[in-house]
Amino acid sequence: MADYRNELIGTSPALDALRGLIDKVGRSPTRTVLIYGETGTGKGLVARMIHQASARAARDFVDINCAAIPASLLETELFGHEKGAFTGAVDRKLGLVEAANKGTVFLDEIREMDLTLQAKLLSLLDTQQFRRVGAVRPVSVDVRFIAASNKVLLSEVTSGRFREDLYYRLQVVAVNLPALRDRGDDVLTLARHFIARFNRAYGRSMRGMTQETEDIFLRYPWPGNVRELENLLERIFILEDDDEILPRHLPDRILRNVAGSATPAPPDGGGDYHAATEAFQRGLIGQALTRAEGNQQEAARVLGLSRHALRHQMIKLGLLKA
Ligand SMILES: Nc1ncnc2c1ncn2[C@@H]1O[C@H](COP(=O)(O)OP(=O)(O)OP(=O)(O)O)[C@@H](O)[C@H]1O
Ligand SMILES: [Mg+2]
Repeated sequence: MADYRNELIGTSPALDALRGLIDKVGRSPTRTVLIYGETGTGKGLVARMIHQASARAARDFVDINCAAIPASLLETELFGHEKGAFTGAVDRKLGLVEAANKGTVFLDEIREMDLTLQAKLLSLLDTQQFRRVGAVRPVSVDVRFIAASNKVLLSEVTSGRFREDLYYRLQVVAVNLPALRDRGDDVLTLARHFIARFNRAYGRSMRGMTQETEDIFLRYPWPGNVRELENLLERIFILEDDDEILPRHLPDRILRNVAGSATPAPPDGGGDYHAATEAFQRGLIGQALTRAEGNQQEAARVLGLSRHALRHQMIKLGLLKA
């Protein structure tokens, strides 16, 4: 079996710290862990790693997305029910918590859990016992719960949608996943990792990213984090035939975003207003043209101008003969 530690790609200080934390939390006896992180930062992956780092590794890891199961079904999914507990309950059914005994239950998107079920979960955390729906007697289990949320739960507590006592209970061991934009060069390491993987999966021999593409990847804020990067690269593998990832393979939202953030800084000493503004415009257009490999239509698109307006500007700035 591959070592789970190799699954987490990245060498930034933020990721090194995360690896250390996963090991510590994994090996600790704690029965609750809370993982915070923006969408696509690897909450699912880290939950699995915590399980694998623990003494529970040989037992089950059960993954439940609280947002994907209707509230009415979530309780029986988790806790099971007795025969005749409600119409249609023709047999006893074991819940996932019981199935995961001695293992780990991953409660993804925990803030979607309703208040009644939160109370039942808290009681289970306190007593390590619960009742199947319709049962008289409690059942004892030894389960670690890893909960995940992409929003800070405290605001849900304030608005009354999340139980304060459960929040503090979960908060004891919290793992915060850094956003991809805060991981420095890791975005390039991850990109190379995904390129190698898609080369194998698609039987391709993509060599990598051009320097321009790398520069864009380093500047783009990646709101969808690692998943956004992974999906973007897969799309390029499917749609493009080149053997390098080029800026023109990237979607508008990315090119536009970095075009805006890559504006040259104004000269220090102030200087002539018109000369400085024109130098700024020249820099902006020059960059867009470089990235579009000289294609004016593409450069105009990135800058949010019509091709006509771009040519007009270029003539005005002396970049093009009328
Ligand atoms: N550091 C990493 N190294 C390698 N792959 C990663 C890393 N972080 C995330 N991934 C991959 O990125 C994808 C998204 O990760 P994951 O599904 O765990 O994110 P998430 O935080 O659970 O997102 P969401 O909140 O949208 O559910 C997965 O394919 C995962 O394997
Ligand atoms: Mg997830």
